[in-house]
Amino acid sequence: MVVNGAVNGSSGSSPSRAALANGSSGSGPTRTVLVTGGAGYIGSHAVLQLLAAGFRAVVVDSLENSSDLAVRRVAALAGDHARNLAFHKVDIRDEDALETVFASSRFDAVIHFAGLKAVGESVQKPLLYYDHNILGTINLLKVMAAHGCKKLVFSSSAAVYGSPKNSPCTEEFPLTPHNPYGRTKLIAEEICRDIYRSDSEWRIILLRYFNPVGAHPSGYLGEDPRGTPNNLMPFVQQVAVGRRPSVTIFGNNYATKDGTGVRDYIHVLDLADGHVAALRKLFDSSSNIGCEPYNLGTGKGTSVLEIVNAFEKASGKKIPLVIGQRRPGDAEVLFAGTGKAERELHWKAKYGITEMCRDQWNWASKNPYGYASPDSTKQNGSISH
Ligand code: NAD
Ligand code: UFG
Repeated sequence: MVVNGAVNGSSGSSPSRAALANGSSGSGPTRTVLVTGGAGYIGSHAVLQLLAAGFRAVVVDSLENSSDLAVRRVAALAGDHARNLAFHKVDIRDEDALETVFASSRFDAVIHFAGLKAVGESVQKPLLYYDHNILGTINLLKVMAAHGCKKLVFSSSAAVYGSPKNSPCTEEFPLTPHNPYGRTKLIAEEICRDIYRSDSEWRIILLRYFNPVGAHPSGYLGEDPRGTPNNLMPFVQQVAVGRRPSVTIFGNNYATKDGTGVRDYIHVLDLADGHVAALRKLFDSSSNIGCEPYNLGTGKGTSVLEIVNAFEKASGKKIPLVIGQRRPGDAEVLFAGTGKAERELHWKAKYGITEMCRDQWNWASKNPYGYASPDSTKQNGSISH
């Protein structure tokens, strides 16, 4: 693995040309993909799957919400494929730093994960969200265009749908996000649609993720939120390892099977594979992709109580529950229509909530404090297969 920035101990935020020149050398896979946000939860799993599929991956991440250890572990898990991985500590809002990365390597495509994702924080700090998620995306698109790299997979979200009246929710549903985070995703999607309208050489896939959970089955990669988790499963996980006393259920009087909210939980590895499928579609010259959205979900709705019960079974831990008020803005039921991704990307989620909870617990029990767990450095670079 070629590294720059924090992974090799330097704290600089712009990549050096020497490091990048090394990163772009070597034989091996035919296609090189720039992965923004590749040190994060979904990005790290996707990079591992890309390497396994024979792509070369260059990760840029500011490490704002992630650890360089995630990238090291991807390298360790990738075995021989690790030679096809490079990392640069770069903030995508820094156009010059992005320009340096692009000037030093030719990218066949970009997967753009980098951004902020906490719905509540986006309400408190909307400008911060517009800055990372919109300004960062505009910088990236400008530099891509300047270098003739016109294939993009963008991390969008089911948040663009707001609270649809019915599920399954298909890609044609109205786009009415409820919060600044969701609006940044919708605006970024609109920017992509406008770019394609202006230049039909662009090929863009907008992946709208539903509720990613779980972890790599090895237990070495997983979600490691900073501060209080915003989402259900990271919270449940922290209760299971004793970091928090109980989980509050946000409302048990919905018109659902057991009164609790219903969502479409998807294993992060299935999601990662969805990106490999999207890239294959972009590289398939026989298809006229344009700029297309696809839902990535399982198509199945699971209630809060059902997934907490599945986690209790997987972990053997009792999760104390407190019934609280509904969380403002929450949908009652939201799950994906997955037909379009199945038909056009030839992708379908393989895992159910049993595997999601099993793998999440494996990660949690090995890393109770995420990448900052006391023994986690021992797992750096010495993962057996
Ligand atoms: P994450 O926070 O783990 O990963 C995002 C990564 O982007 C982090 O490593 C962070 O350090 C990096 N980053 C943030 N701002 C950056 C910047 N300006 N420059 C460079 N790097 C920056 O989150 P995740 O769950 O892996 O999400 C990845 C993407 O998927 C995000 O765009 C998110 O909005 C989207 N998404 C996530 C979910 C979810 O529930 N996890 C759902 C729908 C969509
Ligand atoms: N929930 C609880 N207690 C908690 C946390 C959540 O009961 O402590 C409930 C919620 O009310 C909801 C379900 O668990 O019914 C899932 O909530 P999450 O916060 O885990 O996920 P959301 O569906 O609300 O939102 C997530 C991401 C968004 C993304 C959206 C897309 O956080 O970024 O999925 O569907 F936009």
